[in-house]
Amino acid sequence: MCGIVGYAGRQSAAPIIVDGLRRLEYRGYDSAGVAIHDGRGIETVRALGKLRALGDALAKRPLEGALGIGHTRWATHGRPSEENAHPHVAGKVALVHNGIIENHAALRRELAADGARFGSETDTEILAHLVDRALSRGAVNLFDAVRVALSEVTGAYAIAVLSVDEPNTIVAARHGSPLVLGYGENEMLCGSDISALLSHTRDMVFLEDGDVVELRGPTSSEGPSARITTIAGAAVERPRKRIDWSPTMAERGGFKHFMLKEIHEQPDAIAATLRGRIDLENGDVHGSEIGLSPEVVRGIRRVYIVACGTSFHASLLGRYWIESLAGVQTVVELGSELANRKAVFCDDDLVIAVSQSGETFDTLAAAKAAKSRGARVLAIANVLDSAIPRLAHGELYTRAGPEIGVASTKCFTAQLTALLLVAVYLGRQRGALDATQGASLLEGLCAVPGFINELLGDADYVRSIATSLVDATDVLFLGRGLNYPIALEGALKLKEISYAHAEGYAAGEMKHGPIALIDSSLPVVVVAPRDASYDKALGNVQEVRAREGRVIALATKGDEAMHDLAEHIVWLPDAPEHVLPLLTVVPLQLLAYYVASRKGHDVDQPRNLAKTVTVE
Ligand code: F6R
Repeated sequence: MCGIVGYAGRQSAAPIIVDGLRRLEYRGYDSAGVAIHDGRGIETVRALGKLRALGDALAKRPLEGALGIGHTRWATHGRPSEENAHPHVAGKVALVHNGIIENHAALRRELAADGARFGSETDTEILAHLVDRALSRGAVNLFDAVRVALSEVTGAYAIAVLSVDEPNTIVAARHGSPLVLGYGENEMLCGSDISALLSHTRDMVFLEDGDVVELRGPTSSEGPSARITTIAGAAVERPRKRIDWSPTMAERGGFKHFMLKEIHEQPDAIAATLRGRIDLENGDVHGSEIGLSPEVVRGIRRVYIVACGTSFHASLLGRYWIESLAGVQTVVELGSELANRKAVFCDDDLVIAVSQSGETFDTLAAAKAAKSRGARVLAIANVLDSAIPRLAHGELYTRAGPEIGVASTKCFTAQLTALLLVAVYLGRQRGALDATQGASLLEGLCAVPGFINELLGDADYVRSIATSLVDATDVLFLGRGLNYPIALEGALKLKEISYAHAEGYAAGEMKHGPIALIDSSLPVVVVAPRDASYDKALGNVQEVRAREGRVIALATKGDEAMHDLAEHIVWLPDAPEHVLPLLTVVPLQLLAYYVASRKGHDVDQPRNLAKTVTVE
């Protein structure tokens, strides 16, 4: 949660920082602020609300200077307000922070006893005071003072700090929250993720936990520089990486919202996730990235998938595929629930941590726990070098490109693609699939981008159905087997952006309770392609109709029976059964999008949410 950006160069820092924050706004958007050093001192401007409020404030009070830091916030300690917005200033220091300082209460008491006065309710301000205190107690410079302050705190942080006395320096650090350095032309930048820096450079360094860095802007005699050490001050080297995302990937490209653009990018995201990983001739998957030798795969006794939210729904499908294609017992667990009990892991467990951001606190904690108890960990993530793949023994990146809309769409279908690849890989190495079966499964997967393009051609029809849902306060989503996780995902998409109450249910459970809800006012979305569970799903539709429920069905082209029962039908292509979830989710994403958009909601930044959830 929260996004930070720092700039040290020759250009005016404030517009560059605000532009970087705009690309990080998905991380949090309840308030924002910047601090700029103008060569004489530090000025800050902060504003409650979305970034445009900060833009308005800066238009009234422009800040000049080529060195600065900025922040967009998702409140944890202290409500959203201008006072609680970052940067926080203490004495000579201005500081922005992403994460949580766990021992803030004790430190606040200690600092207060020393005479400190606080202007906010945040844990971050404590850290600003600690840095200022270290400076006043004789630290030789800001770099030194930040390292002293960090040795006093526990918790998670990525920070960027300025000092009045050092008009050319930003000190930044990470521990548990991401931070990337950008090496631009005559400028240095830092930010919470790649997208914040892409319009300036593709040369980046991913800091590791415990790194502290002194960024210096160019002077008349020296170019810009970055010096990285541990908190104790030992020098460390981090490799520079060239990023292959382009700046335009993080733009809306003519679409009204990022979410709509990202729904339309799914064919490309899936094709990119497959590229170079398939061996059709042998019906197999190239497994080197996965980091599991055929011997290790054969020794796996159980697969344990951990994830949250949409990634959890992808994982439920992963279980289905791994069990049916590889014949390995598979358990799926919410990261947040795993933290509540002492789960047993064994060294012949394969734990797959699925996370778009690669930073989700609960998924990360679960992966750490599994690793410490001897399990092998495989990460499926979209963000390069994020915390979960760093910790894992192997990683399979989804190559969906930056996903900016808070509601995940293209990352979900890219995760499904990756999980299917893993299932085929495990199935082939364990002898549960032969080459012909493997090839046929993989061919089906390769055909998915074409099928999705076909479905996207019907987006206008989905938009017309959405009109009938705009006033619905409750919507039920039903599905069986492979369609059940899609019902859950359809409901999650609708609730998070339209704010309607939506519930996903296993269709077979309907008569165990939810059928009591059904009357003529309840729209029921039924995911019922022609697959192994089709006949039963049709039975459920009949039960809903018998109680005058309004049925919106997703059905395979040519399904006459459904035609007679449903009020609206989105027709699906006649695709192989194992890839149907990659298709059925698309109309549900569009449905949620169009309902929310008709309601006038901020689709890309729904209320109360943030894209990267780095708190427990
Ligand atoms: C919903 C959504 C969230 C995330 C969840 C996990 O549209 O995006 O439910 O799926 O917060 O995030 P990651 O995948 O980054 O671990």
